[in-house]
This record gives sequence, structure tokens and C-alpha cells, in this order.
Amino acid sequence: MDLMDKLVALCANRGFIYPSSEIYGGIAGFWDYGPLGVEMRNNIKATWWQRMVRDRDDVVGLDSSIIANPQTWVASGHVANFNDPMIDCRACKRRFRVGQIDEDDRCTATKGGEHDFTEPRQFNMMLKTRIGASDDSAGDAYLRAETCQSIFLDFKRVMQSARMKPPFGIAQIGKAFRNEITPRNFIFRSREFEQMELEYFTPPGEAMDWFERFRELRMAWHREVGMAPERLRWHAHGPDELAHYAKAAYDIEFEFAFGWHELEGVHHRGDFDLRQHTEHSGKDQAYTDPETKERYLPVVIETSVGVDRSMLALLTSAYHEDEVGGEKRVVLRLRPAIAPIKVAVLPLSKKLAEPAEKLCSDLRRRFAVDFDVPGSIGKRYRRQDEVGTPYCVTYDFDSENDQKATVRERDTTQQERIALSALPSYLSERILGY
Ligand code: GAP
Repeated sequence: MDLMDKLVALCANRGFIYPSSEIYGGIAGFWDYGPLGVEMRNNIKATWWQRMVRDRDDVVGLDSSIIANPQTWVASGHVANFNDPMIDCRACKRRFRVGQIDEDDRCTATKGGEHDFTEPRQFNMMLKTRIGASDDSAGDAYLRAETCQSIFLDFKRVMQSARMKPPFGIAQIGKAFRNEITPRNFIFRSREFEQMELEYFTPPGEAMDWFERFRELRMAWHREVGMAPERLRWHAHGPDELAHYAKAAYDIEFEFAFGWHELEGVHHRGDFDLRQHTEHSGKDQAYTDPETKERYLPVVIETSVGVDRSMLALLTSAYHEDEVGGEKRVVLRLRPAIAPIKVAVLPLSKKLAEPAEKLCSDLRRRFAVDFDVPGSIGKRYRRQDEVGTPYCVTYDFDSENDQKATVRERDTTQQERIALSALPSYLSERILGY
């Protein structure tokens, strides 16, 4: 099995991620995050929010609706231009996106496996829906293709209500939808996914400076949360990749099991979005500096990263196989801040379940805790290693007398005897603090 197959199997078996509506055969490009998946996802979002919003006094948050006035997507250019070139095979009737055809996408209806392709046609990737009871096209709307557009729509409202002035940023985490022609590579390219986006509004003269600062900050976050540094690199957009309005754009790429691909974009968007929304809405989005009286459209620096791609990159970075005491194990070396479960409490015997449960409920006030009773202690350690739990606390027969428990660290497997009363602070020091 290659790394990708191992990750997909582990995610399904241990309840991280599996196909949506699986009992009906699933639906391409949609995934469900199970009990461990939702914890890990929430942790990724919490670490991003901490660094991008809470640590800063120049960034505020937003949670906008998924569906916006459809004019939004006309102004943003998505209705006219958010297209991918698509081709059909006349023989096997499958549809592909130009440039996303893999070696194993051979035609199943011709002898040699060669496709009989149509000419490329443009395919708009916006997902449409209908609002209200009317049958005519007046009720058409779109599920947002990126979370940032509402940030632009709310720019003035947020600036005034939060008493901000450029340079300042608005951050949002939320679902986005794209009718990808070929969703693939597990959660890397799906039709429903989540983005963590910051739009930073700057006076025009300061934009390049902020662009460089955010490049640095974003790479630092990826390293801090546990992306393998050797799997991260910058990709500068060449003139043929650069959006017509963009002054500069870099992607942070990650080496996934299927090669180097975009994980995050850090883009200088100019004043394109505020200009477009000014023109289409008729509402001026310019800002007047109260001191200098200078009036300008702020220039936007954007950082945009997928929650799902971050999760796949973190799982890829964390997955290891090693040997402990001559036995093979799979271990997810996730940072404590990212690990879905921080501590597992394991009573050595079922007879000790009651006092161990008491310890467990004390710890639950601080961390995500798993209480795991059945099975040999070795098996239980392996189960926790496989899902990345950084600490296991074993409550044994001596614990009753000496009021201590054994704490085992996941990566080194080293064990230490710690007083029960000291456990919460011992673990907090090692787990919290992001
Ligand atoms: N507002 C800018 C924007 O949306 P993008 O490069 O199209 O830019 C930003 O998307 C990030 O969103 C990507 O770097 C990726 O992490 C994530 N993303 C985009 N399309 C995705 C998809 N189909 N499935 C999962 N994640 C996706």
C-alpha cells in the first residue's frame, strides 16, 4: 500500500474521514468528518484563528452567509470567468478537466485504452441553487465559491462597527463550493470544502510591505502546526498564471503523496474587488483618511488556505511507522494542539474503571480525553498512537495506594510516574499553550 492508501484506510477505519452518504454509494467530491476528524478540523481552525485574529489587534472576524446576492458573483467575475476547460470521451462517456488526466484514467471502452475526446468546452464551476418558490430564473443563486467575497461586501460595515482603519484585516472561516469536474485525491480536491481566509486592507503605498509580512507569517504557521518543513515550498506565479488584477501572487505548496500541489495562496489582489463592488452596487467603497483627507480604495493582501488540504498535509506529515519493543506500530506524530484527543485514560484492569473514570472527568474539563477500558494495555497504546494521542495515563493497582499514575509519551514511549494531584498541570504544560 502506498502512503495515500494507508491514510485513506486509517481515516475511514478510525473515524477521521469517510465518503458522504456511504450507504448509498457515496457522492463524488463530498466527505464526512467523523468523531476524530471533527476534533482535528476544529483544532486546525482554532490555531489559525488564534494566530490570524486573536493574537492581533488589527484583524477582526466575520461569519457571513453562504449564499449572497447573486450580483456579488457577477461583480467578482465568477459568473463570466470561473471556468475550467472540460472534455468528454465519446467512447467511455467520462468527463475530464483538461490538465487533470492521470495515467490511470485510461479509456475503458477502447482496446488500447485511448480516449476519443471532444474539443475542450468551458465549464462554469459555480454551484447553483434556487431560492424561494418561483420557477423562473429570478430565483437562481450560487453557493459561494470562496469565502472572501462577503468580506469585501461587508468591508465598510465591519470597518465602521469595529472602529478600524487601514491597515486592518477581516478574517473568515467557512464552507465553499465548487463544481469540480474531477474531484480527486481524497479531500485534496472536493466539491464542498472549507477555507480560512484573511483579506487585509492596506493604504496603497504599504501593500507590498504587508504582502511580504504575510508571506512570512503564513509559512511560519504551517511549520508551527506541524507540516513537515521539507514538504513545504514557495511557488511564485509567473506572468501567465497571475490574475490580470494581481500585482504578485505566491502559493505555499506541499508535497502530498501524489506530488507537489497548492496548499495556500498569498495574493496581492490590488483594489480589484472593492472597485468591482463599487461599480456593480453603486456604493462607493473608498476610504477617506481622517487626518490626511486622502481618499483611496484600499489595496488587498489575501491569505487563503483550505482546512481540508491542511488536514491532509498534516496527516501526511504525521504518519509514521516504527517499532516499539520489537512490534510494528503506526503512529501519527501530530502536535498536541492539532491531535484530536490529547489524553487517553487507561485503567489497567476493569476493576479500576471507577477511580480512573473520576480522574478522566477531572481532565475532561481541560482537554479532549478518551477513556479506553477494554483490551491489553499494549493494544490500547497502539490504538492511541494510531490516532495521534500525545499522552496516555495508566491507572494501575499501585495508583490506589501511592496516588500516582503512569504517563506515557507517544513519540518516545517514555513513561513517568506522576502524582494524581499534579497531573492536570503536568499535562497542561505539555499540551496547551498554542
Ligand atoms: N479567495 C481565493 C481563493 O479562493 P483559491 O486558490 O481558489 O483562492 C484557496 O483557493 C485555497 O482553497 C486553496 O489553496 C486550497 O487550499 C483551497 N481549495 C481550493 N479549491 C479546493 C477544492 N476544490 N477542494 C479543497 N480545497 C480547495
